[in-house]
Amino acid sequence: MTVAPRLQPRFARVDEAAAAAAGFDLRKLPADYYANPYPYYHALRDSGPLHRLPDGGYFLAGYAACVAVYKDARAFSSDKKREFAPKYGDGLLFEHHTTSLVFNDPPLHARVRRIIAGAFTPRSISDMERPVTELVDGLLDRIEAKGSADLIADLAAAVPIEVIGNLLAVPHEEREPLRGWSLAILGALEPVLTAEQQERGERAVEDFVAYLKTLVARRRAKPGDPERDVLTRLIGGEEGGERLSERELLHNIIFILNAGHETTTNLVGNGLHALLEWPEEKARLLSQPGLIRRAVEEFLRFESPNQLGNRLTVAPVEVEGVAVAAATYLTIGIGAANRDPAEFHDPDRLDITREPNRHLAFGSGPHVCIGLNVARLEGRIAIGRFLARFPEYRLAGKPVRSGRARFRGFLSVPVALA
Ligand code: HEM
Repeated sequence: MTVAPRLQPRFARVDEAAAAAAGFDLRKLPADYYANPYPYYHALRDSGPLHRLPDGGYFLAGYAACVAVYKDARAFSSDKKREFAPKYGDGLLFEHHTTSLVFNDPPLHARVRRIIAGAFTPRSISDMERPVTELVDGLLDRIEAKGSADLIADLAAAVPIEVIGNLLAVPHEEREPLRGWSLAILGALEPVLTAEQQERGERAVEDFVAYLKTLVARRRAKPGDPERDVLTRLIGGEEGGERLSERELLHNIIFILNAGHETTTNLVGNGLHALLEWPEEKARLLSQPGLIRRAVEEFLRFESPNQLGNRLTVAPVEVEGVAVAAATYLTIGIGAANRDPAEFHDPDRLDITREPNRHLAFGSGPHVCIGLNVARLEGRIAIGRFLARFPEYRLAGKPVRSGRARFRGFLSVPVALA
């Protein structure tokens, strides 16, 4: 199978689309949504910039509405204590998710962000170029020796774990459980949580915290280079300013480890899969490898690794002409905004030279992704080098999607190399 079938971006009939929008409920998503949410996104957007959900919240499917909410952190809070208390009870998942910077407003958000951001300088990122290239080339050697590959296990999932492990200087031999913990903790963010998912998430936070306590104690005894080692920075706190409490420290380390895993895996897996759906774009990239940076932006837009964001209104507010009451939950449809024809010409087409491409894959505003340039570098090197080495790769079996609403990606994409 050299060409993967493309997803149908819209419902075939207008009445079908209207019914899908009218019945849309994030807590009861239809089975076909997980494989292909795009017809739902278009139907929701066509029904208005804000779509009322049965639980009283809104789903934002329009680009302008999503940007407006992202940019105004005063009106739209990221603090999730109110939402997560009934969801998680008062266990470790609650403690973790409500202590990480992404789910907080100032002052905690600003304090943690300043400390972390200092470690993501252009220099520290360009220093990653060589080790990431060597890592990817080693993975490609192994793939070549095997003669076939699972794009996820053999490449897409293997890169971020090493990159973030390096960023926090986690010893190589201790990295193995990180991915499992990370998937279990982020899995608990799905709109609906099973008892089993919750239990797995709780156990993962417990094991992760226990491991990090030993890692932090070792790093305290023997600090690394604060210009490069994010963990040493987090332990040291702000220069001349405040330090993080032990609890803030541990949960924010977990968040950084988690934030860059599944998302980056999905970028690489989704990108290489999208090229199989769009062979003419694959041919273009092969003949002009210099287009890889723009191609990565387009993969981020076209199949956004993180599809949903959330905010809570702090006071009555108007969004795109709609009056929204205080304490209303908003779901930011990142994947939907990135297919909005008002912002992107012919949005359901993969165009690796798209310009401009102001996608929202990394969010926007004060919480915009801190690791965006790390992710771009990983995506560029992993996708670019795989393609150059195995230009004839093709599907060797049915790809398996991860079947989640928030994080869009594959569990496995089996390919033959020639
Ligand atoms: C393709 C890969 C990635 C995607 C699609 C992605 C996406 C996002 C998005 C959408 C947000 C905003 C959340 C919000 O506003 O509610 C975010 C925040 C964040 N991301 Fe990423 N991310 C990726 C990779 C990474 C990597 C590699 C790291 C770290 C090494 C990272 C660290 C963070 C951190 C620390 C935040 C929180 C920022 C804040 O709250 O101020 N991300 N990311």
